[in-house]
Amino acid sequence: MLASRDTIVTLERAGASTPAYVYDLDGIEAEAASLRGAFGDRPHGVFYAVKANSAGSIVRALASRGCGADVVTGAELLLALACGVAPEQVVFSGVAKSDEELDLAVGRGIGAIQIESIEEIARVDARARAQGRVARVAIRVNPGLDFEELATHAHVATGHDEAKFGVAKADLEHALAAVGAAKNVALVGLSSHVGSQFFRTAPYVTAARVACELVRGLRSRFSLEFVDTGGGFGVDYAGGETARPADFVRETLAVMRETGVGDLALHVEPGRALVARHAVLVARVIQRKVSPSSGDRWLMIDAGMNDLIRPALYQAKHRVVAIGGEGEARPWRVVGPCCESADDFGAHALPDGGFDHVALLDAGAYGYTMASRYNGRALASEVFLRGGAVVSVSPRAPMGAWAEERARV
Ligand code: LLP
Repeated sequence: MLASRDTIVTLERAGASTPAYVYDLDGIEAEAASLRGAFGDRPHGVFYAVKANSAGSIVRALASRGCGADVVTGAELLLALACGVAPEQVVFSGVAKSDEELDLAVGRGIGAIQIESIEEIARVDARARAQGRVARVAIRVNPGLDFEELATHAHVATGHDEAKFGVAKADLEHALAAVGAAKNVALVGLSSHVGSQFFRTAPYVTAARVACELVRGLRSRFSLEFVDTGGGFGVDYAGGETARPADFVRETLAVMRETGVGDLALHVEPGRALVARHAVLVARVIQRKVSPSSGDRWLMIDAGMNDLIRPALYQAKHRVVAIGGEGEARPWRVVGPCCESADDFGAHALPDGGFDHVALLDAGAYGYTMASRYNGRALASEVFLRGGAVVSVSPRAPMGAWAEERARV
C-alpha cells in the first residue's frame, strides 16, 4: 500500500522532499509477468512504451521481465539501450523522426522503424544506404476507424481519419510500392496503434482485425514476421474494473488465428497499463482555505499541474486520498500552487483534519514524463521501492537551482 504513513517515513529517511513520486517496482514487474503469461507459447514481443515513464529503474525492471521498448525519440532510444534493452528489442514510432534519429536507429540495428508516412520510406532508405545497411521497418497503418468506434478521449485517439499518425489504410499500396523501390529497407511487419485508454477490448480488437487482414493479403509479397497492435490498454483512474491487458492479448491472438496469421508473432506496445497503478504522487498539504460565506473548501497541496498535468490536459480525475486524517469525510477541492485555474485535481471526499499529506493515486504513467518546470517549480522527487525498501532516489532540486540556471540565460 503506497498511500500510507510508512511511505511518508520512507520518504523522510530517503531525504526525498515532496512532491514525490513513489514507485513499486515489484508491482510493475508483476504486471509485465502477467501480460507475458497471456501469450502462452505463441511468439510475441512486449515493447514497453517508454514515454509513459522513462525512469531507468522502471525500464530495467521491465527489461528483466523480457520487455523491449517502444520509443519515439532518439533520446528514448538511447535510454532504452543504456538500460540494457537489446537493439533488436526496440521499435521506433513517431511521425517526424529527424535524420539524426534515423541514423541512430539504422546504425544500432533496431527491431523495427515504424513507418508513419510514405515519404519516410525514402528517407529511411537513404539513411540506410549511406551506412551500407538494410533497415528493418514496419508500416504503421491507420485503419481510419470513426471516433465513436474508438470510444476514448479525443486527445489520445489516433486510429481515425484525421489523425497525423500512420499511413492511411487507403494509401497502403502506395507505401508498399515505395518499399518495393527501396533497396535498403526490409518490411518485416505491420503495426497499428489506434489510441489509449481502451476500457473494453472491442475497439482494439476491431483495429487488430483490420491489421491482420491486411497482413494476410501481403504475406505472399513480403516476408512478414509480426503484427504489432500497439498499446492502449486502459486504466480506470476511478479505480473501477476494466478489461485487463491479458484480455486484449488473448482476444487479439484469437483474431490472428481466425484471419490465418496465427503463426506470426504478436507485438504489443503497452505503456500506461504496466506502470500507472504502481505509483503514487505524494504531496504535502500547504494550507486549507474555507470560505465562511459559501462554505467552499479548498485543500492546497505542494504538487501542481506541472507535476501531473493529466487532469488539466485530459480532464482526468486521479483519486486523492489523505494519509491519515480524522473526522467525517467531506468534499474538498484539491488544488496545486501553479498560477492557472486548470491547476485543479478535482473534488475529493477527505477528512477535515489530522493529516499533512495526500497521495494522488495511479500516478505511474504520463506523470513525471510530462512534468515541466512551469513557474520555476523543481521537478518532483522520485523514489523507487522493491520489497518496500528504497532502491533508488532522485531528489528534487533545491529552489534556487532553477533561478540560477535561468538567470544565466
Ligand atoms: N505505442 C504508440 C505508438 C503510442 O503512441 C503510444 C502512446 C503507446 C504505444 C502507449 O499507449 P498506452 O499503452 O500508454 O496507452 N499522455 C496521455 C497518453 C498519450 C499516449 C500517447 N501514445 C495520457 O496521459 O493519457
